[in-house]
Amino acid sequence: MGLIRKDIKNIEAYKPGKPIEEVERELGIKGAIKLASNENALGPSPKALQAVKKALACLNRYPEGTCFYLKNKLARFLGVPEPNLIFGNGSDELIDIILKTIKEPGAEIITSEVTFVEYKICGAINGFVVKTIPMRNFTYDLTAIKKAISPRTKAIFIANPNNPTGTYVNSNQVTSFLEGIPKDILVVFDEAYFEYAADKDFPKLVRLINKKNIAILRTFSKIYGLAGLRVGYMIANSSLVAYAQRVRQPFNVNSLAQAAAAAALDDKAFVKLSKNLIKNEKKFLYDAFTELGIWFKKSAANFIFIRMNADTRKIFQELLKRGVIIREMNCYNMPNYARITIGTRQENIKLIKELKELEKVINIRGVDQ
Ligand SMILES: Cc1ncc(COP(=O)(O)O)c(C=O)c1O
Repeated sequence: MGLIRKDIKNIEAYKPGKPIEEVERELGIKGAIKLASNENALGPSPKALQAVKKALACLNRYPEGTCFYLKNKLARFLGVPEPNLIFGNGSDELIDIILKTIKEPGAEIITSEVTFVEYKICGAINGFVVKTIPMRNFTYDLTAIKKAISPRTKAIFIANPNNPTGTYVNSNQVTSFLEGIPKDILVVFDEAYFEYAADKDFPKLVRLINKKNIAILRTFSKIYGLAGLRVGYMIANSSLVAYAQRVRQPFNVNSLAQAAAAAALDDKAFVKLSKNLIKNEKKFLYDAFTELGIWFKKSAANFIFIRMNADTRKIFQELLKRGVIIREMNCYNMPNYARITIGTRQENIKLIKELKELEKVINIRGVDQ
């Protein structure tokens, strides 16, 4: 018998966006910009930074395992009781905690193609059969997902808005989807980009946590600019939360992350600034892509899914040399597509300038959809 689990041998590790330092080191360049991981271009919330400085003096102590203060604050912020909340080392960890809490031999989870790859990776690591359902117009096809449910289905993962396509399923679609889903199936709505979703018909699901078997995942990594600290949370019925508490590591969210996240909730000015940046810069990039003949999908998040008439792996490499890091979509086997995180105006201008330069040597104009 070999040492390594057979099923692990088939799992491909998650490939994150290339870090700025790595690109600068490898290419011997300075001033690279990263538009690859849907981070906040404005940096971390200033209130969170202040709180981190204060919390540094207590690093000799273990953190509060239950995130006591943060939980209390978030409960008031969301208007939900504390037993409905649990925190994770990023929402990534909560995906794993959920799967560990519900796993059974032979069980399956369902998600979509062209979505956040962690559902697939984490599902496989936890021994689930992972069914991925094709999208419809780059959007989760909830009707097809519902049809794919079998007696072995334990959970359905829906990224809303979806990463990488930026599309969302609306309130009506979600309501009719949830109708008739068996009670023993957990529907996980991963709302990592929830704060950016400005459309009126975006689902408001918090009020459903005790009526339907749903869990909502959110994060401090995106709009609050705290990706480096790793803190996310789940809102769900108190029974699921209580079981998940048994599964998580005792000190899974570090003390700096807890202090920063609690302070970030008060940083209304920063949240507003971040939303405005995305709103304005999205328009700037839409216009620039249109001028360049690059196809894009309208996005409800802080990134844009684009298609060029060229192999984006090549474009990715060429842009890297020019100090611009984007995300090609090779992991989905979509060689003409890329995902661009919306940056500051200065960063977006640099991206467009470099694309215009590239256009002189590579035809990047997208074919019609
Ligand atoms: C849809 C989605 N869910 C979860 C995450 C992970 O977030 P966190 O940093 O909280 O682990 C990401 C990160 O890109 C994401 O796009």
